[in-house]
Amino acid sequence: MRVTTPEELMAVAKAAATNAYAPYSKFRVGAAVLDADGSITPGCNVENAAYGSTICAERTALVSAVVQGRRQPTALAVYAEPGASPCGSCRQFMVELGPTMQVYLGNAEGRLISTSITELLPNSFTEFDPE
Ligand code: THU
Repeated sequence: MRVTTPEELMAVAKAAATNAYAPYSKFRVGAAVLDADGSITPGCNVENAAYGSTICAERTALVSAVVQGRRQPTALAVYAEPGASPCGSCRQFMVELGPTMQVYLGNAEGRLISTSITELLPNSFTEFDPE
């Protein structure tokens, strides 16, 4: 199988940002999930007049991947013109679906930061047995 580079994954996230529905914040975000099967699933933020109902790009990408039966995300690229780091809800989603996922954060200047969900959300929720 062909290896997808972080730059290629970021290019898909950047393209997806053009589909963002962000009439309220005007902040366009794109995401792209790479699955173990080699597939790439894009996502973008989808806002709502009831602001709290907005869904981030990372979650639309992850949900779309699940809908398509892609259950082994290995990497996620997030693109915004000035750059964006995932919110708490998205981190929680990432750790659930891809606990070992690599995460790439990119901006319009071509900057690309490589991190991981373990780094973004250490000590995430699990059942805790104090015994
Ligand atoms: N947003 C994302 O889609 N991903 C992020 O990582 C940060 C925030 C969206 C939510 C909202 O539509 C807009 O960006 C401003 O918060």
